[in-house]
Amino acid sequence: MLTQKTTETPQTGPHSAPAPAGLDDLTCYFEGSFVPLGDAKVNIMTHAFMYGTATFEGIRGYWSEERQTLFGLFVREHVERLRQSCRILLIDDVPSVDELTGIILETARRNDFHEDVYIRPSFYKSTRAIGVRLHNLEHQLYVVSLPFGNYIDIDAGVRVMTSSWRRNADEALPARGKIVGGYVNMAFQKSEAELNGYDEAVVLTADGHVNEASAANLFVVRDGVCLTPPVNDDILEGVTRKAIFQLLADEGAPYEVRSIDRSELYIADEMFLCGTGVQVSPVVEIDHRQIGAGSVGPITRAVKERYFDAVRGRLPQYEHWLTPITRRA
Ligand SMILES: Cc1ncc(COP(=O)(O)O)c(C=O)c1O
Repeated sequence: MLTQKTTETPQTGPHSAPAPAGLDDLTCYFEGSFVPLGDAKVNIMTHAFMYGTATFEGIRGYWSEERQTLFGLFVREHVERLRQSCRILLIDDVPSVDELTGIILETARRNDFHEDVYIRPSFYKSTRAIGVRLHNLEHQLYVVSLPFGNYIDIDAGVRVMTSSWRRNADEALPARGKIVGGYVNMAFQKSEAELNGYDEAVVLTADGHVNEASAANLFVVRDGVCLTPPVNDDILEGVTRKAIFQLLADEGAPYEVRSIDRSELYIADEMFLCGTGVQVSPVVEIDHRQIGAGSVGPITRAVKERYFDAVRGRLPQYEHWLTPITRRA
């Protein structure tokens, strides 16, 4: 069973992180060199701007106060997924995993951050052209990194609603690729939820199964077993989701990957969201129904605490999740 150790209560924050001041002075990687973010500009005829033909990754960097080090979390895994998304989008000749990792780490390093950060590498179709397609287009890479706190309230638990918007199916717009244009689907879901007074949306697949949240995978607990939808239910194959499997397995907590019905959410004992942005966020209410006792459940609490200990570099067994970026001299 998962052991509960109280270590850290991360700060709560707004539902979406505001852009920090002084953004223009940050160093980013753009069209082959490191430049101030304020100088990284694209023409409005850029294909990716016209049609959303780009792919991206979101990577977190965690500052460890104890170790005075900024750690990148799952950098290699994100780079591998970025390259897979490129294949889906017919973006060829992308740099190797090692080269890309080097550029990404160097971008963050040049900003000498001593706080939590978000790093976004993105390949985008850079040809200036009218004409919707994927082939015969040039591409470019940018990497931005900026200070970043919590994305949603991860302490008290979030309230979610089932979105009336369905998830785009693999045969329409593959969720498995992190495709910029596809995020309009999530924007519909997130805005519907927030404008109706909720924190987040739970989304169903076209055939009515539980899919994920607007930008996070989800787990429910039923009778002590953690359940999460399979990769062929149109989810993004989350890096954090995989890490949760590892945490659960290491703690001997049972989990099962299978399709989940909407009504199972209503009778779940616990539920939590996971992802780079939301980290591990307990869910306490769905569609006017309390989940479990309406507070953070014991398995969720334990997963969350282990996760935050791991990402802050406090658990040697998960050191391989982390890549040191900067150290305070
Ligand atoms: C649609 C969607 N699902 C799930 C996730 C979680 O994926 P990961 O854990 O790789 O960040 C994300 C990104 O954070 C996402 O955008």
